[in-house]
Amino acid sequence: MILVTGGAGFIGANFVLDWLRDAGEPVVNVDKLTYAGNAATLAPLDGDARHVFARVDICDRAAIDALLAAHRPRAIVHFAAESHVDRSIHGPGDFLQTNVVGTFTLLDAATAYWRTLPGEERDAFRFLHVSTDEVFGSLGATDAAFDERTPYAPNSPYSASKAASDHFVRAWHHTYGLPTLTTNCSNNYGPYQFPEKLIPLMILNALAGKRLPVYGDGRNVRDWLYVSDHCAAIRAVLERGTPGATYNIGGWNEQANIDVVRAICALLDAQRPNPSGASYAEQIEFVKDRPGHDRRYAIDATLIERELGWRPAETFDTGLAKTVRWYLDNAKWIEGVTSGSYRQWIDRHYA
Ligand code: NAD
Ligand code: DAU
Repeated sequence: MILVTGGAGFIGANFVLDWLRDAGEPVVNVDKLTYAGNAATLAPLDGDARHVFARVDICDRAAIDALLAAHRPRAIVHFAAESHVDRSIHGPGDFLQTNVVGTFTLLDAATAYWRTLPGEERDAFRFLHVSTDEVFGSLGATDAAFDERTPYAPNSPYSASKAASDHFVRAWHHTYGLPTLTTNCSNNYGPYQFPEKLIPLMILNALAGKRLPVYGDGRNVRDWLYVSDHCAAIRAVLERGTPGATYNIGGWNEQANIDVVRAICALLDAQRPNPSGASYAEQIEFVKDRPGHDRRYAIDATLIERELGWRPAETFDTGLAKTVRWYLDNAKWIEGVTSGSYRQWIDRHYA
């Protein structure tokens, strides 16, 4: 079996659902269930003996040791993190704790466990660390996209904490020989994304008749990848990646934020027309910029295509249409996440 951390979050849950649909190999899903973790996302796995859920903090060494000893996974796929840049600006402490101390704790526990494995199992073991393109900093309009040799230049508390965790993973491979793999991926979107992030926030605000808050001039660029494509890339790296290597993952799909928001409005205008007859685009409002806002991210995903044969299956048009449809069709899931602490966050951040 494999052990997944953060498997109740957006990408982790998509990974677990896809994995159990396609591979069938059991999963131990380790998640603390912070505000971003949602057991409802995993409801399709209720009663599935291949899915074992453990509500555990990755900083809890004794609990991680016990899970490794009990389940003896052949691999760890590490998604668990504090993941929202704006929250890292308001409160960086949790980011250091989970992203840095948590990753260190897992690496140390994994190394102790890996050393106990017999020869062949030891050779086959993998620790896959899921990271971000934000560790590379910000690109100018004409700069070449980030590749695996781009120097690290993190700019936010979030990206600094992810960069630190990447360095620990590198060091654990170099010093102790742990068979690690690191992936640095661009912006994901798709089903089950918590509506603090751009795409689901805009969909839900539009439908609720609220303003669509676009930071700064709206010309910041992100490279969007549909979440199931990211999950497929992780599976390819896990099975065929070279231990110690890092792989950049991206959608070959750079979009300015304002264009993304307008595309969402156009899809909603067609699929759920505003009763007033107005376009949802009329709700767009340019607001104060994010402090230290990175201007442009772009991933050169040549290496993973050449070495592992992975390319995204979705285009932005198909992926965004599926995503908007999913949010229109899943009111119950949305209701579950848009109560309580989510509302407090929205009130505080956008006040
Ligand atoms: P998310 O915020 O939706 O989910 C994070 C999950 O981690 C939640 O289920 C949460 O409960 C869990 N978690 C947080 N702290 C924990 C702790 N101390 N112990 C155990 N579990 C804990 O995040 P996401 O968007 O799914 O991102 C997953 C990973 O992918 C992160 O490492 C992130 O840095 C990386 N990533 C995200 C994107 C993106 O666009 N969302 C892109 C590239 C890389
Ligand atoms: O690049 C990968 C990263 O993508 C991941 O590592 C992070 O975990 C993930 O959160 C994401 O970070 P971003 O900061 O790029 O994503 P977010 O959805 O928060 O914002 C996307 C862009 O939209 C960014 O330029 C800021 C802008 N934005 C965001 C929000 C929430 C707005 O203009 N208005 C908003 O209300």
